[in-house]
Order: sequence, then C-alpha cells, then structure tokens
Amino acid sequence: MSRTDEIGVHDLRAEQTAAALGIGTAAPRLGWWTSAPPAWRQQRYVVEALGDDGEFRTATVTSGDSVLVPWPFAPLVSRQHLRVRVRPEDASGAGAWSAPLDVEAGLLEPGDWTAVPVEPADGVADSTGSAALVRAEFTLTQPVVSARLHVTAHGVHEVELNGRRTDDAVLAPGWTSYPSRLVVTTLDVTDLLLPGANAIGAVLADGWYRGRLGFGGGTDRLYGDRLALLAQLEVRHPDGSVTTVATDDRWTSAAGPIVASGLYDGEHHDARLERPGWSSVGGGDDGWRPVRLGARDPATLVAAEAPPIRRTQRLRPVAAWTSPEGLLLLDFGQNLTGRLRIRVRGDAGSVVRIRHAEVLEHGGLCTRPLRDAAATDVYVLRGGGEEEWEPRFTLHGFRYAEIDGWPGGDPAQAVEAVVVHSDLERTGRFACSDPRVERLHENVLWSMRGNFVSIPTDCPQRDERLGWTGDIQVFAPTAAFLHDCAGFLSSWLRDVAAEQEADGTVPWYVPTIPGGSWWTPSRPGAVWGDVAVLTPWTLWERFGDRAVLARQWSRAVAWVELVERLSGDDHLWDEGFQLGDWLDPAAPPEDPSLARTDRSLVATAYAAHTARTLAPTPAVLGNDREADRFARLADDVRQAFRSRWTVDGRLTEDTQTALALAIRFGLLDDAETAAAGDRLAALVREAGHTIATGFAGTPLICDALTDTGHVDTAYALLLEESCPSWLYAVRMGATTIWERWDSLLPDGTVNPGGMTSFNHYALGAVADWLHRVVAGVAPAAPGYRAIRFAPQPGGGLTHAAADVRTPYGPAGIEWRLADGELAVEVTVPTGATGEVVLPGGRREACGPGRHRFFAPVGAGAELTGPRSSPAR
Ligand code: BGC
Repeated sequence: MSRTDEIGVHDLRAEQTAAALGIGTAAPRLGWWTSAPPAWRQQRYVVEALGDDGEFRTATVTSGDSVLVPWPFAPLVSRQHLRVRVRPEDASGAGAWSAPLDVEAGLLEPGDWTAVPVEPADGVADSTGSAALVRAEFTLTQPVVSARLHVTAHGVHEVELNGRRTDDAVLAPGWTSYPSRLVVTTLDVTDLLLPGANAIGAVLADGWYRGRLGFGGGTDRLYGDRLALLAQLEVRHPDGSVTTVATDDRWTSAAGPIVASGLYDGEHHDARLERPGWSSVGGGDDGWRPVRLGARDPATLVAAEAPPIRRTQRLRPVAAWTSPEGLLLLDFGQNLTGRLRIRVRGDAGSVVRIRHAEVLEHGGLCTRPLRDAAATDVYVLRGGGEEEWEPRFTLHGFRYAEIDGWPGGDPAQAVEAVVVHSDLERTGRFACSDPRVERLHENVLWSMRGNFVSIPTDCPQRDERLGWTGDIQVFAPTAAFLHDCAGFLSSWLRDVAAEQEADGTVPWYVPTIPGGSWWTPSRPGAVWGDVAVLTPWTLWERFGDRAVLARQWSRAVAWVELVERLSGDDHLWDEGFQLGDWLDPAAPPEDPSLARTDRSLVATAYAAHTARTLAPTPAVLGNDREADRFARLADDVRQAFRSRWTVDGRLTEDTQTALALAIRFGLLDDAETAAAGDRLAALVREAGHTIATGFAGTPLICDALTDTGHVDTAYALLLEESCPSWLYAVRMGATTIWERWDSLLPDGTVNPGGMTSFNHYALGAVADWLHRVVAGVAPAAPGYRAIRFAPQPGGGLTHAAADVRTPYGPAGIEWRLADGELAVEVTVPTGATGEVVLPGGRREACGPGRHRFFAPVGAGAELTGPRSSPAR
C-alpha cells in the first residue's frame, strides 16, 4: 500500500492556467498531476472548495482522469471566489491533497460592467504615436478586505495605484481580433490601496490598436483613432459592501513624457516632461483635462487564457566598442526580442539615441532587413543625477545596438538587454552529445521566445510581426513541447475562428490587417489555411484538450469543405493562389514562392492530410454521424493525388518536398512508400545532404526518411554544415532560426531579399523530430496519457535526452551509447503508460516510474532478452 507521504499532487490548475483570478468560464475544468509510487493508480478524486461565503463544497468523482476534468460544482457567478484543492486517491484510499488554488470568476456578464472607456481629451495624444496619461482619485472610508481591478484598453496600458505599478505585464492587453475580443486583466490590488484618499492612473499608448501595422507602408488606426482605458476597481469592505471606482467622466487626462511610441519604430521619452506623482494623490493638479467618453460593447470583453507578456531575462553586453563615427556599439551575444534598459547621468536635455539590429554589416548595424521599422528609441535626460530608463510600449528584434550620445560610463554595467515575450512556462528540454545540435535546439527555443508575443508571430524585428498561420501550423508541435502554450494557442485559435470568412477561407495571418493585393482580401491557401484543422489537433494530441476540438469543429469543417469545393470533382487543388513550398532554397531571393515543387501537389497533398486529420474528430467528440465522412474524402483526394502524380507507382514530381509529403501524409501504398523513401534518400545524398525544402517539406523530411528506413540519411541531413542546411546557420554564428536558409550568405553578407529575418521559427520545426526521434519521446495518446519512447540513435551521437512536463507530469528519456550497447532510461508519469521501442524493434510496455533498458546496437547486433529494471 502506498504511503501518503510518498504521494505529491502538483500544479493544480483551472482551464489552462495556474493563475485563475478573473477566469472567464463559469465551469472551469481542473487539472493536476500526481507523483506517486509506481503501483499507485488513481481510482477517484475528491475536490473540496471553500467559498468566501463560508460554504464548504465537496465532490468525489470515481475516475482515473486528471487532465481538464469537468468542474464538479455549481457554475460560478461573476466575482465568485473559491479556494479549491483536490485529492486523488487509489483504491485503498492512499492519496494526498494538492496545494489550494484560488479560482475566481471575472466579470462574466456584460451587465457587470459599469465602467465606460475613457479617452484622452481632444488635443491630448490624438496623433498616432503619442501616448497619454489618464487618472482619477477616490476615497475609501472603510477598511479594505479585498480589491480587484478589471482593466483593458484601446491601445496598450500600464496601470499604477498610488504611485506603484499594479502588475508586471508588458503591452497589455496584447493583440486579439479586437472587434470581437478584447482581453481584460483581473488583478488583486488589495495591498496597493490606502485608507482614505487614493489615486489610480494609467499610461496609454498605441500598441496594435492604433499603431502602424504591416508591410509596404502599413496601416495605422486600424481599430480606432482614440486611445482609451476601461477600468473597474471593485473594493470589498468588512460589512460586505463594495466601493466601485470605474472609468467615467470624472477622470482626467494629460500628455506625458512619452512623446512617441510605436511597436515598429520605437519609443521617444523626454524625461523633462515627466509628471512626478501623477498616479499618486495630489498629482493631478497641473494641466489635466477631463477625458472624453468612448464606447465599447462589454459583450466583447474576454478573460485572458494565456499568461501576459513579461520581461523574462536580462542580458549584459558581451562586447562593446566604438565605431569610427564615435557611436557606441554593443553585442548582447544573443538575438532576442525586447529592448534596452540604460542607466545614464548627464545634463538635462541631452539625447541618447538607440538603434537595434540583428546583424552587423560593414562594421555597423545592418538595418535593411528591418524594412520600414525604425527600431529606434530616444531618451532625453531629465538631468541632475542618475537616470534609469527602459521603453515601455515597444519591442525590437536584435542582437546588436548602437547608441548615439552615450554619456559615458561602462556599458557593461549600465546597459542591459531586457528579454520580453509571452511568459509561457518552459516545459521541454533537449540535450545531446553534439554541441552543434544543442545550439540548433537552443536557437529554436530562442525563436519561439522571440515570436510568442501575445500571438504567434513570424518575426519580431521588421515591419511585420504578424500571426502568419502557416508558420505556426508547422511549428506548433515543436512549440507544444518547449513551452506550455495550450492557453496561448487556443486563445489565438479563437481569433482565427473569428476572422475565418463565411465561405471557410482562413486568413494568411490573424489578426487580419490590410496587406496589399497579394494578401487582401484573403484567398484560401494550403499549408497556411490548414491551421484551422491541424493546430487544434496538435493541441489535442499534446495537451489533451478536447474542448479546442469541439469549439473549432465547425470552422475546421468549413475549411475542409471549402478546399473540397475548390478542388472540384477531380479532387485536385490546382487552381488559385498558393505559396506552395515557400522559401525552397532554390527560389530566387525576390520570389520565395518559386519553389521546385509543384504548388498544386503541395496543396493537394495537404488537402488529403487535413481531411485525414479531421476524420477522427467526430469520434473524439462522440458525434458518430460524421464518422466516415472525412476519411472517405481523404481517400478520394489520395486517389486523385496518385492518379495525377504517380506513374507505375513512382512520383512524377522528383523533389525532396514532394516525396516527403507523399510519404508522411500516407499518399502511397507500402511498396511505393518504400520506393519513395529510397528515392528521397538518394536525392538528399545527391544534394550532398544540403536541404532542398521550404515551409512545406522541411518539417517532414527527417521523419519521411526515418519512416522509410533511412534514419542515417536524416542524420546526415541534420548534421550537414554547408549551405543550405540547419547547421550552416549554426556554423555562421546564428543564435536564432533564420527565415531563409541563407539569411546570411556564405560570404558573410546579408541576403539581398526584401524578406530576410534572422528570427523566424518555421524552419526550426525540425526540433519536433529531435524530440520524437533523436531523443525519442512522443505522445502516443492525447495529452501523453500513453507515451512512446522510440530513440533512433545515429549521426555519431553517443547521448541524447529529452524531458517534457506533460499534463500527467514529467516524462523523459535519456540514452547513452557505449561499447555497442544502448542504455535507455525512461520516466513515465503517474497516470500514464509507456511503450519503449528499441533499435532492432524490441518493444516493452511500462507503467509509471523510471525504467532502464539495454539493447545491442550496430552491425550484427542480436536482440538479447530484456534487461529491464525499475529504477526506483
Ligand atoms: C512572413 C512569413 C509568411 C510569409 C507568407 C512572410 O513575409 O514572414 O513567414 O508565412 O510571408 O508569404
């Protein structure tokens, strides 16, 4: 029997978050993971909840489930707070309590809002780029039991109460499809309030709401031309009464020290214009003018499902030098998304100007890849002592910075790069014996960090930074390993659904903005539009979230039906606009869509794959009526693909991407697949193991080789260092994944293409193969309830390891190769099962706990009997 002190219950969460304050659902699903001795099996769980009303609730549920289980109590009403804990137990009653989780509903009903948006007065911050301050004072005559601030903005906001920031979020409320969804943050501000007089203030800036967005000049004022704050502070007193302080016509506004701020162009802060004490009592005397009242339909206000953007790390420069022009140049050693924080001393009015770039050229910053993003921050000193400054409402993608007007002082002490992105929990790690591959993996991680900024973006540096659907479609499986991005992506998928056209067309990027005649209006395109089906499925597979599938179902069907219509009776999607195998390295710099592989082949292969992926969803959702429909469609498209692109069982399109698609999407029969694998391996060898795939082929090629018995060729492809290849960029000093295989050309110059980012995650999708195949850990049932450990050593690696915090708890694998024997250790979390597949094909089933296996490897290795030992 298990002893209670051996059992731990961890990470209790409501929906996808452990910060369940202001949650937006009345019946949040609960989840936790358990660490227990290997024999322990959950038979039931007890949920207890204590409300502020003193009422105690308890529910016992007979079930082995622990991931996103149904809320066991009556639905929450707005503001209702319950302190919840859970106790999973085995048949004998052995179990343990989790730590408590505060679950508190936000404002669930539109009618809960009394606040109205307040806009700066006419003449205050009414031009694009300018920022504003708004404020109000109020008196609390009774003691405070608790206080909640529900806040959002048209624009981006930072709120202060009595001179102190209410939270550490950056660029709140982030970017959503604003007309349909605007995220409200709910904060516990109890400790910031004072007895008697209080003051609240907010800084507002353009952000995505009013700032310039998009390439080719972009568009500003997309969502509106007035900034506004919407805030409702609710203060609870001992007698149960509530004081509400809401944005209304008593608020006042003024211009502040931020003269200009834009996401692309940077921020200009004139410290001489600061208003000391502006968010404290008495700080609103001078030149403040009454706000205007704006409008917002409260039915469009939603609770956050993902963690906010935050500062997550600070880096000191690794090198500093002075250019011939006398400018200070800094290298932070890492391409990142964020901004600088500087400490300076100088005369009032002296100006420090900071420019940013990802790479150097001719001894200075290379800013051409930024296109129309000025990425320049300006600080005008207040004078009279040390001043510390970091811009508040802008981000840059950079590794290098150039400072004009640096007033001296050791930059190694006085300058930091502050890394900023959505503060997702890191869940996955990978290591191996080849430092180049580890660096590649690290680069993928940094590109995820730099591009998960409220939405999944393509790049963080140029005049773009958009939620390109194809990029995340191919990268989502990697992302879901590296960080807990379940809430982040399911929130963004709501925007995808909201912006999908009635006919099923999925925009190229979400939120949608005007993008010139190529992109606006949106036209249906494979790989990108398939996000509507494939990414919800990834979330189901990796996080076990069935609700995403249910919510997305009608939109996914709309996409698949659209593609079916466009393909016509012959089921070939060979008309219309396609990006195809975007960024095939053979495409010319000026047109990345001119790939080797026929676009219609890419589109038709994807049509089959997406229908196939959708096919099991009705069974998952318990809707048997639709059970066979999409499988039949997938069969038809597969048949059409074969008739069009095979002759005598061979693909007529002889490219790496075509073969990889056909193999991985199951478009050929067994013998043809084997032949296609041989041909693919031959093509890769003929190319000297350099890469010949773009967005469509790259995520698949290593798997396609592995599946067809050519894992050695997959390793050779992975480990090749000449251009184009993954390790070419590593050899050239990359610290993030590049947009183009040759963003930096072999001669060290920057690719002349108009689209040359050094921080684009899409081609880093190979990391999913590193996790699943090189290290060898993958989900075999949704949410990793069953885990497949199938390492395939190769490429001269002697060691690899991967750990992932699954919804059931930490899982991992580590293998070492020595003296012709492979030693594998796997960890299976409580509540999950493992299947281990060793080289040579031996299979072992295992339960929770740690297990070791040994297998002979190499030429002539005979399978020996199992040597398995539980490691606990
Ligand atoms: C973006 C992409 C995107 C592509 C599609 C680029 O400008 O950066 O990554 O998917 O356009 O055309």
